[in-house]
Amino acid sequence: MSANVYRALSDLKGFSLKNCPAMAEPTGVLMCPPDYFQVLSVKNPYMIGNVGGVDPMKARRQWETLVAAFESVGCPVDTITPTPGLEDMVFCANQSLAGTRPDGEKVALISAMRHASRRREVGSFKHWYEARGYRVFSLKSEGHEAFEGSGDAIWHPCKRLIWGGYGFRTDAAMFTQVAEFFKTPVLLLKLVNERFYHLDTCFCPLTSESVLIYPSAFDAASLELILKMFPIVITSSEADAVTRMSCNSAVWRSKFALVQKGAAAASGHMQALGLKVVEVDTSEFVKSGGSVYCLKQFLFG
Ligand code: ARG
Repeated sequence: MSANVYRALSDLKGFSLKNCPAMAEPTGVLMCPPDYFQVLSVKNPYMIGNVGGVDPMKARRQWETLVAAFESVGCPVDTITPTPGLEDMVFCANQSLAGTRPDGEKVALISAMRHASRRREVGSFKHWYEARGYRVFSLKSEGHEAFEGSGDAIWHPCKRLIWGGYGFRTDAAMFTQVAEFFKTPVLLLKLVNERFYHLDTCFCPLTSESVLIYPSAFDAASLELILKMFPIVITSSEADAVTRMSCNSAVWRSKFALVQKGAAAASGHMQALGLKVVEVDTSEFVKSGGSVYCLKQFLFG
């Protein structure tokens, strides 16, 4: 593992947030219309019992309301054309991780998806970024090693630091390439509970100092890392985290939080920290294991 990838407190040796240079805020989001969205096979525990169970009209209305919610907080929304037959393409968090290099160049890392049915999504994203002048790199995967983009790799707000989740959809070894490509350190978090199969289901940075987590999704060494780096750690209730995917909220510029409707405890904590909460209903997408955060990709630069 590269010198820039840390797994435990004992690896840190003086590394702290103060050593991490500032990083610009995101400039918008990329989303994919749900034209072909459906649950066709079970890839995560949320999908059990939901095969064929998505209401396409309702999903379309919820997605349009989410677009409007992003725009209402001042976040520009860009879209990518959906491909027929790719039922999970709507989850734009996974096919890539966008960001900047330390010199400000806008870049995008293209994922190596765990499931064959999702591997066909990545080509469209590669073209999308290339057409817009991003430097693009496709992750090299040996054997079955996978990396599922910003579902498992989350930028620390306003810092050149990436949090990397592994255990289900992403392999720890892949973060060496992530750290090298972005020229940014990665702090690894081990996911141990399949219900929280992507980092974005149990870890939601709110500001540079605060994070919302679901603690039992992580092993002990990972929890120590989170507690060391964030002065304020808020925990989600099980009901909010599981039923309403509260940790899959999208925070815009540490000011606004777009949160699944009904996640009252999580919303209350966010409001207490000064965030303005915008409730949105993503219930059709929760049937597939995703909510607000993973229906978009943050864009930078
Ligand atoms: N059905 C999709 C899958 O299992 C959901 C992906 C949700 N993405 C996320 N980052 N939480 O791949």
